[in-house]
Amino acid sequence: MMEAQLNGLEVDKIRSDFPIFGRLINGKPLAYLDNSATSQKPAQVIEAMSSYYREHNSNVHRGVHRLSIEATLAYEEAHKKTAHFINASSMEEIVFTKNTTESINLLAYSLMGLLKKGDEIVVTQMEHHSNLVPWQQAARKTGARLKFIEIGSNGELKREGIESAITKNTKIVSAIHVSNVLGTVNDVRHIGQIAHENGALFAIDAAQSVPHMPVDVGKLGCDFLAFSGHKMLGPTGIGVLFGKKDTLGSMEPFLYGGDMIREVSFEESRWNDLPWKFEAGTPNIAEAVGLGAAIDYLRGIGMDNIESYGKSLVRYAYEKLSSAGNIEIYGPPPEKRSSLISFNIKGMHAHDLAELLNAEGIAIRGGHHCSMPLMHLLGITGSARASFYLYNTREEIDRLCEAIGKAKAVFKV
Ligand SMILES: Cc1ncc(COP(=O)(O)O)c(C=O)c1O
Repeated sequence: MMEAQLNGLEVDKIRSDFPIFGRLINGKPLAYLDNSATSQKPAQVIEAMSSYYREHNSNVHRGVHRLSIEATLAYEEAHKKTAHFINASSMEEIVFTKNTTESINLLAYSLMGLLKKGDEIVVTQMEHHSNLVPWQQAARKTGARLKFIEIGSNGELKREGIESAITKNTKIVSAIHVSNVLGTVNDVRHIGQIAHENGALFAIDAAQSVPHMPVDVGKLGCDFLAFSGHKMLGPTGIGVLFGKKDTLGSMEPFLYGGDMIREVSFEESRWNDLPWKFEAGTPNIAEAVGLGAAIDYLRGIGMDNIESYGKSLVRYAYEKLSSAGNIEIYGPPPEKRSSLISFNIKGMHAHDLAELLNAEGIAIRGGHHCSMPLMHLLGITGSARASFYLYNTREEIDRLCEAIGKAKAVFKV
């Protein structure tokens, strides 16, 4: 399977790795099109976690006994695989958290010391709440100003908006890589360049990009990058914050306690080496092992292949949905988007559509997708969203479109 294209036959093979596709939903085969929310898990990930618990379970970094050494090695190996996956220079640059949300909270909390009144934090108008609310709080607590890079009517960031939002007063720029609503793939490399020219730190919310395309932190030129294991075939409860070694080294910890210290007296403490300085308490060890197995699985198929397959699915869905009539699609044309599509059928609430599709065994999401300000900008309260991954097929998109046709008939729209 190494470098091969993902054709129908190989997708069948991939599907056979995912036990959940044996399930029927309302008597119909499951068409899982809610991958932006979370992905399904292959047997390889489930088995790696189960085998960790069956054969190696112990706490990490604490014991000299055999199991503790094995658990520590497995946990550290997961950091190394993650570093390699995004081309970080070493595992010191990989902090495990619970999810993207926690990674960004860690950043916002830890960087607050840099901020004072008159400073600026810049995000975009298409952020998920996870890359907005922590910065709102940081701004509120420090007197810094939160500014936004505007979106144009094409669903892309305005190029001149990037240059006007980021100034010499900007201390932090944090931008979403792939929009979880519009599917837009932002030119984060360019945003990073402007941030750095102005002396600001640059962070990327990569929750929707790392699972779907090759991501190389060196090429993107970012100081920080956050993503979640559960959206990339891994388990819930494990997220990643990449940070450049020197920058992480100079930052204050977010959580204090066991494992993140080198030495503690009654009066004071000194911090552990990276990345452990940011990983206080017993971490999610089995989940880290599961993430490592997910990375092995994705690498076995190839991120280039996954990206081009996702794009072919979204192109197919875009063409079918845009010719179906009475459907408004949000965001840029397929060649400029990642593998998701948000839309509304005129005269039907997205939740009603999601419920009718559920009756057909099709899982999509309806709602604000944790992006209320963007919904407001689009002039809607919510949308339906179909999001694809490497195990989805054109047949499932055909089923989606047929079921939408039925739903329109029920609602007479
Ligand atoms: C772009 C983006 N950022 C952040 C998140 C938050 O991820 P998590 O819930 O895993 O923290 C999501 C989740 O949907 C997302 O799509």
